[in-house]
Amino acid sequence: KQTINIGMLGLGTVGTGVAKILAANEHCIAQKVGSAVALKKVLVRNAAKPRRVTLDGLLTTDPAAVIDDPEIDIIVELMGGEEPAKDYIIRALKAGKHVVTANKDVVARHGRDLFAAAEENNVDLLFEASVGGGIPIIRPLKQCLAGNRISQVMGIVNGTTNYMLTKMTADKSDYEAVLAEAQQKGYAEADPTADVGGFDAARKIAILASIAFGTRVTLDDVYVEGITGITPQDIEYAGEFGYVIKLLAIAGETDKGVDVRVHPAFIAKNHPLAAVNDVFNAIFVKGDAVGETMFYGRGAGEMPTASAVVADIIDVARDIQHGVASRVLCTCFDNKPLCPIDK
Ligand code: NDP
Ligand code: HSE
Repeated sequence: KQTINIGMLGLGTVGTGVAKILAANEHCIAQKVGSAVALKKVLVRNAAKPRRVTLDGLLTTDPAAVIDDPEIDIIVELMGGEEPAKDYIIRALKAGKHVVTANKDVVARHGRDLFAAAEENNVDLLFEASVGGGIPIIRPLKQCLAGNRISQVMGIVNGTTNYMLTKMTADKSDYEAVLAEAQQKGYAEADPTADVGGFDAARKIAILASIAFGTRVTLDDVYVEGITGITPQDIEYAGEFGYVIKLLAIAGETDKGVDVRVHPAFIAKNHPLAAVNDVFNAIFVKGDAVGETMFYGRGAGEMPTASAVVADIIDVARDIQHGVASRVLCTCFDNKPLCPIDK
């Protein structure tokens, strides 16, 4: 193919970053893929809204104009929310289009249906940006660490709350003021109650646990407690005793199955997680062969998240160029039992 065409659903924080990277690294990406990769259409809610990138003639408010365009090869879903995002993704997969998404809500809740549709239609469905923003974590878990029996996945997976807790600790900033800052920086979800309530982290750890343990972990399996109850006094007392407060997401194998939780925790100031500040995330993965590994980087924001989305686009584009697909499909959201224990 001379050009691989992209239809993007959403031009908000992440979509804008993707448009910027595709333009800024156009030739480098073309060289990596072996053909040009270009935005062809972009779905938005309000076409009259001022934008931070110029995409003359590409914007539409008609989803069918993007999803049903026969010249579009890859749909990149960056709208967020459960519906209509899920419906559009399924429609795109059924139309034989490859899909890249950053939507943890949809992947955590509907991963099984989405991957079934991708498999049936022999197309790719990649979701690296759904967890950890710019940090590579889905591919490492799914591929690079696949030889291990994983015993634990644990860390900080929400940039908004980590930013808030960092500022509330270091500068004694007010909760509402730092939440507004995180929103202004593009870290928070459209509905930030998902961040502060711990549900965004719960979606992410459900996805990671499903992949790590090879069995379907749903949101209902996750114990969730956010940071809404954390007071300045809690932070102050923690400090006096040599701790900081972090919102942790933890998934571990127990003899009863997989235990998955999200809750604030006291972290000793000399623990590596205590130094993970601002929008940074860190995820520890423990495998029987590799031992402990740590993945660290910016967990939210325009360009880091777009970095992961564009990497997925490039992977899919390479598949298209080489006439292969479904190379890295995920059966991890199926209701399979935990991996058997080998001797
Ligand atoms: P934004 O709210 O900034 O942008 C959403 C975009 O989607 C907007 O352009 C909006 O249009 C468009 N949109 C929303 N609903 C509709 C609809 N029904 N029909 C047409 N267009 C619609 O979201 P983000 O860019 O922050 O997030 C996008 C996705 O990426 C989410 O799933 C989020 O969870 C995920 N993500 C976000 C990260 C971040 O740091 N922000 C990090 C990792 C993942 P309009 O502009 O006209 O309003
Ligand atoms: N709202 C999310 C966060 C975006 O703050 O981590 C990245 O997934």
